[in-house]
Order: sequence, then structure tokens, then C-alpha cells
Amino acid sequence: MISSPLMTVMVDAVRKAARSLKRDFGEVENLQVSRKGPGNFVSAADRKAEETLRDALMKARPGYGLVLEEEGKVEGQDKSHTWHVDPLDGTTNFLHGIPHFAISVGLEREGQIVAGVIYDPVKDELFVAERGKGAYLNNRRLRVSGRTDMADALVAYGSPYLGRGDHGKLLREVAAVMAVTGGARRFGSAALDLAYVACGRSDLYWERDIQTWDIAAGIILVREAGGFVTSADGGDQPLAARSVACGNETLHRELVGILRKANA
Ligand code: IPD
Ligand code: CA
Ligand code: CA
Repeated sequence: MISSPLMTVMVDAVRKAARSLKRDFGEVENLQVSRKGPGNFVSAADRKAEETLRDALMKARPGYGLVLEEEGKVEGQDKSHTWHVDPLDGTTNFLHGIPHFAISVGLEREGQIVAGVIYDPVKDELFVAERGKGAYLNNRRLRVSGRTDMADALVAYGSPYLGRGDHGKLLREVAAVMAVTGGARRFGSAALDLAYVACGRSDLYWERDIQTWDIAAGIILVREAGGFVTSADGGDQPLAARSVACGNETLHRELVGILRKANA
């Protein structure tokens, strides 16, 4: 586990927000829910968890800016630090009673993600990473999978909400990946997709049309677990490119090649 003042702040904030999220998941049918767009909803659970996270992070680090999924940007006086916060990643799962969702908090310092926490409250799995200090699941040090044969690889991917992103492109990519890998999965939480690559459950993950709060924490987790993270096109700025591809060095390189070929 990582014991630093920063990690304590992040973990405390996330655990606090998780309490209300878990309670709300137990009574999901009574939640107030509104539509953000086709197939994309926000619930009282998202808003409550986000408020808890915002208040805790602002109290502990008053000058830092925030990028919050629901509230938007909150400018801070300290221009070199920004939190990227997704209070509930995997909303569709949550609202359907599927126990696969997480809270994700990443810290950006001068353009680089330096710390990340992803917490799955149902399975009580806490994923943490800090630059130079490694990645952990609860108290276990993480390492990406060592598989090097695509035919054995389990690959996770994400798909954009109805009316957003390029579904045709995604289908071409999924077809190309399915043709050469051991299995493809759409789990429904980008944060956990990254965390699962960090801990070696999945070998690879890619997604396009993704936001910084979805992937900030997961990027540092995968990197600190020895994995490679780029944009889906292989560029070195996934946050700015709003897309991601990750895995161990060998399989990651192959995946980026497969995606490129699928779009050629
Ligand atoms: C979504 C999930 C999903 C991913 C979408 C995200 P949300 O986040 O991470 O797995 O495919 O692109 O928007 O809306 O549940 O916070
Ligand atoms: Ca999300
Ligand atoms: Ca969300």
C-alpha cells in the first residue's frame, strides 16, 4: 500500500463518497434519475457522490482545480494541479442493478497524471497508484499480465453512448480484434477496464471518445503496474486525444497495429 499524505486524502475522499453510492445502489429503483442524452443518465447517486468528493478534495487541497463529470470545471488558484473526478463510472450498470461500477479520482500535475484511485465499492476493491511508488489493489502490488500471444489475450473495450462517437468504426475495430484474440468484453466501466489491465485480469483495453475523468486515474495505475498506455492511435497523450489503448508492451503494440489496420 502507498502511505503518503496525498494518497490519504484521495482514499479518504473516495471511501466517504462510496458509502452513499453503495446505499443508493441497494435502493436503485427509488433513485431520482434524469436523462443527459440518449442512453446516458445521471442520478441523485452521481450528484451526491460528486459533492462529497468535491468537498473533501477542496478541503484537503484548497487551491487545486477540479474537472468534475457532472458539475464541470472548477478553477483553482494553483494552476499546476487538477483533479479529474468521476463520481460513478459505470452508470448504466449501476442503474440496471449490475454490480460493476467505481469511483475514479486522478490528479494531474503540470499535464502529467501523478496519482490515481479507483474504488469498486461492491467488491471492496481499492486500486491506488502514485508516480514512482507502484500500483496496488488493496495491499497487493500490481503487475500487468505477462501474456504475449494475442490468441490467449482477453481484451476489454468500450462503446460510446447512443448518438455519440463512431459506432461503425468501433464495429470494424471489434471485428478485427475478435478475429485474433482469445475474447473480447464490454464491461461498462472505463475506470475498472483500466484497473483490470493494471492487475492482469484483462490483457488489453481500448476505447475512443472517452473523457479525462474516465481515464485519468487508470492511466497511472496501468503505468505503475508496468504497462503501456497511449491513445487508441498510439499517440503519447491519451488524455488530450480522448482515447486510450493499454496493456503490456508486446500486446499493446500489436493492438495499436490491429486498430490501425482495421481503419485503413
Ligand atoms: C462510461 C463508462 C463506460 C464507457 C463510457 C463512459 P459513465 O462512463 O466508463 O464504460 O464506455 O465511454 O462514458 O457515463 O458510466 O460515467
Ligand atoms: Ca465515466
Ligand atoms: Ca460517471
